[in-house]
Amino acid sequence: MNRLEGKVALVTGASRGIGAAIVARFLAEGARVMATDVLPAPPDRDGDRADFATLDVTDAAQWAAAVAATEQRFGRLDCLVNNAGIIRFSRFDDLDEAMMRQIIDVNLIGTMLGCHAAIPALERAGGGSIINMSSADGISGANSLTAYCASKFGVRGFTKALALELGPRRIRVNSIHPGGILTEMANPTNIPRHLYDRGYWIYPAQRSGDPADVAAAAAYLASDDAAYCIGTELSVDGGLNAGHYYMTMPGAPRNPTA
Ligand SMILES: NC(=O)c1ccc[n+]([C@@H]2O[C@H](COP(=O)([O-])OP(=O)(O)OC[C@H]3O[C@@H](n4cnc5c(N)ncnc54)[C@H](O)[C@@H]3O)[C@@H](O)[C@H]2O)c1
Repeated sequence: MNRLEGKVALVTGASRGIGAAIVARFLAEGARVMATDVLPAPPDRDGDRADFATLDVTDAAQWAAAVAATEQRFGRLDCLVNNAGIIRFSRFDDLDEAMMRQIIDVNLIGTMLGCHAAIPALERAGGGSIINMSSADGISGANSLTAYCASKFGVRGFTKALALELGPRRIRVNSIHPGGILTEMANPTNIPRHLYDRGYWIYPAQRSGDPADVAAAAAYLASDDAAYCIGTELSVDGGLNAGHYYMTMPGAPRNPTA
């Protein structure tokens, strides 16, 4: 459990959900972590190996300040986790221009700005790892999520192109594709888990996932265990994107309510 000993990471969108789980896992793996968010840090985050900076990922000046604060506090930067994201569930006809632009701005441009700001620091550290949070919706489409899908497909393509450019510079760039992870984003009305999971009977895992599942994938990609992973897309989605069932054919799951 000390795979990230000696490494320093900057994590965006780290005050709750998947980002908070990544911070906790990275600390448990021995890393030092600059957690960032537009929301305040959770009150119980501990220790001299963690710090917090306010960072709106759409603001290049704030990015420069956050990277500088990380190097000042911890002496280096080895890993950037572009996790911050927003979602809006809406029919495309009802999605206004401001919302389209905001989703692309936070999810895609925010990721690009983060890479811009972090690359010189990663090179100063002798190389490193960039982890971009895409989505299961960055691999296949989903109703009510047109702009979100566009942003997450964008993150996936951006990751692969940047991986080509940065591989020779010893910086590995990879994407994670979560699906059905129980957070405020996925479950805004806080439906109890046993009820929420009923909707998952059509997926191989038959349940939703936890932020810790994604954090484990991020810890892997940040670690030297993933030294040969470059431009990899790692699904953490309970099989959501593995394919689809022919419901009347053998091997399909049974509807528990039928
Ligand atoms: N939960 C899922 O099932 C799921 C599935 C696929 C992808 N994802 C992705 O994982 C990431 C984390 O999602 P989550 O489920 O933990 O969501 P969440 O809403 O619980 O957390 C998102 C965090 O991002 C922060 N954030 C929003 N806008 C920001 C900005 N402009 N600058 C900085 N921080 C900002 C929020 O304050 C929040 O802390 C997102 O990129 C999301 O798209 C989640």
